Amino acid sequence: MSEPHHPGPIEENIDSHPAKVAIGVLIGAVAVIIAIILLAQFAIGAYGSRSRQNEAAMRPERVAERIAPVAHLAIDPNAPGAMTNAGAAPAAAAAPTAPVAIPPPAAASQKTAQAGNGAGKKVFDSVCTACHGTGVAGAPKFGDKAAWAPRIATGKETLYNAALHGLRAMPPKGGNPSLSDADVKAAVDYMVAAAK
Ligand code: HEC
Repeated sequence: MSEPHHPGPIEENIDSHPAKVAIGVLIGAVAVIIAIILLAQFAIGAYGSRSRQNEAAMRPERVAERIAPVAHLAIDPNAPGAMTNAGAAPAAAAAPTAPVAIPPPAAASQKTAQAGNGAGKKVFDSVCTACHGTGVAGAPKFGDKAAWAPRIATGKETLYNAALHGLRAMPPKGGNPSLSDADVKAAVDYMVAAAK
């Protein structure tokens, strides 16, 4: 290289080794593209894999609140006119202080033939159906025998326990702590009966 005009490396090589220069440029371009792709994946991965599990808004109770039906059914036996509903909501087991589906004891004993599913259905329709109606969050669907069979096989007490105290995405008492234990159990009975 003794010429007075000293050409740069590209200028110098483009005539003698055009293929080499082209390959060099190509490799450089590919390296930049790969770097951009990797950076993008890194950014997406870091964003997408962040856990929301412990966020307050993701607590089962809060989720249940957000996806709860717009209206809740509450039958108060002490409210005027409640007696007209009593026949439709008999449940010997319902606690007298529970806000949902409480028949006066006298009415309940007269209607023992219907006892059980009346209160269970009411609780189910007002609370549990939010998830169990369509199978939200992996909840066993109402009337889905295949989904319920293995759960029913674990025994009523296991199911009661899960319904009362929660199980993974299943919130305690379906996210409605004002339900009495008897109401929740009646709702379990109602769902189990429908899936047998
Ligand atoms: C926020 C949604 C949600 C609501 C509301 C809800 N459930 Fe569930 N439930 C679930 C999910 C999800 C599962 C499945 C839990 C699992 O196995 O991971 C489940 C499972 C169950 C099971 C089976 C438990 C077992 O041992 O396999 C019973 C029984 C049950 N729910 C009863 C109820 C009753 C009764 C109510 C109403 C008072 C109710 N659920 C309301 C989400 C819900």
